[in-house]
Amino acid sequence: MPGPDLSEPALAKINLCLHILGRREDGYHELDSLIAFADVGERVVVEPGRSGADLEIDGPFAGALAMEAASANLVQKAAEAIADSVRDRSPLRLRKHIPVSAGLGGGSADAAAVLRLLNRVHALEMSEARLAEIGASLGADIPMCVHSRPLRAGGRGEIIEPVPSMPALPLVLVHPGVAVATAAVFAGLAPPFDPPISDLPSRFDSGEAVAQWLRQTRNTLRLPAIAIAPAIAEALASLEASDGNLFVQMSGSGATCFAIFADQASARLAVARITELRPDWWVRAVTTVASESAD
Ligand code: C5P
Repeated sequence: MPGPDLSEPALAKINLCLHILGRREDGYHELDSLIAFADVGERVVVEPGRSGADLEIDGPFAGALAMEAASANLVQKAAEAIADSVRDRSPLRLRKHIPVSAGLGGGSADAAAVLRLLNRVHALEMSEARLAEIGASLGADIPMCVHSRPLRAGGRGEIIEPVPSMPALPLVLVHPGVAVATAAVFAGLAPPFDPPISDLPSRFDSGEAVAQWLRQTRNTLRLPAIAIAPAIAEALASLEASDGNLFVQMSGSGATCFAIFADQASARLAVARITELRPDWWVRAVTTVASESAD
């Protein structure tokens, strides 16, 4: 009988829209955002028996974390947060495939994946709500990444409401190679702020229905992000120019942009075309995770 799977995917978070409702007393901003998740190959793995550091990092974006103290890594912090419940603390490996400081929530996704992984491997039987609660003490985006299915996020991002009926969406992600600091983008915001996003329909029947709904939304961080990193405007333009795109937007505080496509074939063609034009950019065709109850 095969043993338990010792690896867990950390899914990239994509803000399909991002309204900013106001500035809070604690200096953070109140958000209202529709969010989906996609597997871009990032994994956390438990490696029983491996010697060496408690956390090793490899993969194409490992270098971006090389200067960071191990104790500052959210994976390490999440492992420590759940440590009291875990008898055997095996070393971990992070396979870093999500660009860093890119608006895709990579660090939060990694922390959430560690919580899910240790819960499963050690049969801790903690509920998703309990894991989200542990995650919330480490970062506002971690509860949504524990869920990793379509959701609406409010508060600083920690209040999550699952979206019951969102299909899997073919997306192209384009990261134009510039890291953007979230705090700097928020610092460029000025009132007036946004109204909440309008109520979601009881179900989205297709990617086109999602795209149509999104056309009356915005990502308010887009303009301040472009002011810091003008390459974001080029990334958006490259997606707008791609045949078969239904909706184009920036994710989070950038710099990653995405387009929803009508089908996988047109998404793959867009990837080929954009990669040929800009071989230095990170460009991927992905499919988002559907709602649990969606077909
Ligand atoms: O969540 P994270 O630590 O990545 O946020 C970095 C910075 O972005 C915060 O220190 C804050 O300045 C800003 N921010 C905000 N409102 C949010 C999330 C982040 O103002 N909801």
